Amino acid sequence: MTVYKTHLAIGHNEAEIVFLNRLAQENSAFVEVGVHVGGLAHIMLQVAEADPDFRYLGIDHNEQVLNRHIKTSIDFRPNTQIWIADAWSYATRLRVSEWMIATDGTCVIYCDGGDKPKELILYEGMARPGDILMVHDYGTYEGGDEFPSKAEISPEQAALALQGKGFVRYEPSWLPTQGIRIAAWRK
Ligand SMILES: C[S@@+](CC[C@H](N)C(=O)[O-])C[C@H]1O[C@@H](n2cnc3c(N)ncnc32)[C@H](O)[C@@H]1O
Repeated sequence: MTVYKTHLAIGHNEAEIVFLNRLAQENSAFVEVGVHVGGLAHIMLQVAEADPDFRYLGIDHNEQVLNRHIKTSIDFRPNTQIWIADAWSYATRLRVSEWMIATDGTCVIYCDGGDKPKELILYEGMARPGDILMVHDYGTYEGGDEFPSKAEISPEQAALALQGKGFVRYEPSWLPTQGIRIAAWRK
């Protein structure tokens, strides 16, 4: 596996970047809810360059902060796109669902937008058997007073969101167990 990196802003540590690279390279498609500057999108662009069958879809409602070169480069490719849209709206989710159904193989759905528990609930129904549902900013950040907690979703919130939906925990044990991090479930 190749570990692609980015020079753009990305809110992931090195271990998470390695894991995200592996997931992108082991699955056929990747949906990123919340693209921000496009750091992860840049990594996905490189995965797509190496594997022309790999599909990437990024969604963000704020075009202002998104690196326009990344958006242009991604939109030019046949299998990669960034949509400027509200990822929570029914219309967008319907389009995402159609985009996913057109994928021949398994898909990763990464909830990293403005309300992660909400996104887990809105997007979990789109996961088909074998697909992976992920969330960022999960867990307890123990940075003390200097760096107060920034975690946006607690393990309890996530468990509640996925209760009884047939998902099993998937992230590797070597991912940091403290601090802001990724959690993943395979359907
Ligand atoms: C934490 S940042 C994403 C970081 C990015 N995934 C990365 O790895 O670099 C969250 C992003 O979610 C976007 N966002 C928040 N609510 C959204 C919504 N309802 N629809 C689409 N994007 C949304 C924000 O505009 C922001 O750019």
